[in-house]
Amino acid sequence: MADANDKHLWAVSWDDFQALSVDERASYFMEGEREVHVILAQQFARNRLDALNSLATQVRFIAKSRAGMRFLRDLLSHKRAMLYFTQPSTRTFLSFSAACQILGMTTSSVRDSATSSEFKGESQEDSVRTFSSYFDVIIMRSAEKGLAERMAWVLSNSERAVPIVNAGSGKDQHPTQALLDIYTLQRSFERLGGIDGKHVAFVGDLARGRTVRSLASLLALYDGVKQTFVAPSPLQIGRDVLDFLTKAKVAFELTEDFERVIPKADAIYMTRVQDEWDKTKGESGLYDIRKFWFTAQRLSLLRPDAILMHPLPRRDEIEAAVDRDPRAMYWRQMRNGMWVRAALIAGIFHRDKEIQDYHEQNL
Ligand code: NCD
Repeated sequence: MADANDKHLWAVSWDDFQALSVDERASYFMEGEREVHVILAQQFARNRLDALNSLATQVRFIAKSRAGMRFLRDLLSHKRAMLYFTQPSTRTFLSFSAACQILGMTTSSVRDSATSSEFKGESQEDSVRTFSSYFDVIIMRSAEKGLAERMAWVLSNSERAVPIVNAGSGKDQHPTQALLDIYTLQRSFERLGGIDGKHVAFVGDLARGRTVRSLASLLALYDGVKQTFVAPSPLQIGRDVLDFLTKAKVAFELTEDFERVIPKADAIYMTRVQDEWDKTKGESGLYDIRKFWFTAQRLSLLRPDAILMHPLPRRDEIEAAVDRDPRAMYWRQMRNGMWVRAALIAGIFHRDKEIQDYHEQNL
């Protein structure tokens, strides 16, 4: 529901908007409790996460039957989605595409700017405005930090203010991955008091991993969650995240001692080395990253009720033999992405109430 406190992107210049803090900017992407655009993890409040989690579960249950799928596929059968992914992606692209299909939307994609008119010198602004003429939502991934945010401002100041969903922006943000990570944590700890009070350890390349940055921010919305960042010092988490956690009074620790952390954690969030961002060739090869691998041998250190997560893709940081352990959650985490993204898109188009009603009446 819109209210008098809502801030509008069309009412602020780009220069003034950029000068605001991340929390202030985040508030512009919400209208009451609903997303106008999905750009920053900071735009989500705790009650919104709870609502999205239960909506994702409802969609998941409804989709189990043919009649349920017919209901879901009708919800947005009049809407079209554009997937604008100029950076490599497997899971995020496919799960968004599957989520759109679940809701009956048709999708189109541009996956390489060399195949679009950007190659002829068209600006990204003009490309996105073109997409907005044909589609009702633009889901975009880019190597450029802040591009999705700028495009949200551009479209909100155009005659077709369609929503932008950030599917990964540079090294900075991956809000929808953080939403599916939260959903996975919530489901895993359902019978253990939920996410509140849990200890989450992030491991690997935390300097360049956008999933970690977005999830660290969402976890700060839960009571008494402790966050530990396990990485070689050149790959440690950014100062801005630590400043944010300090301000939010979140307990955190930085360490290189992975073996000491494993038995204490409720969730271990592994990440790969993001060497595509190396400034000099072979730079990442200089870090001794093997200490931060989750080998099958290390399973014996993991608590019986703890879980192991990874946004994927993985390289060697989780040994394949670990996959057979019931605490390995990354394959389910990946599938959760489809349900959470379907719930998110349904919410953007105001279909949540219909889903809740159907769930109540039929399940
Ligand atoms: C991540 C990403 O793109 O940031 N992948 C994903 O979306 N599941 C993590 C990565 O690339 O390592």
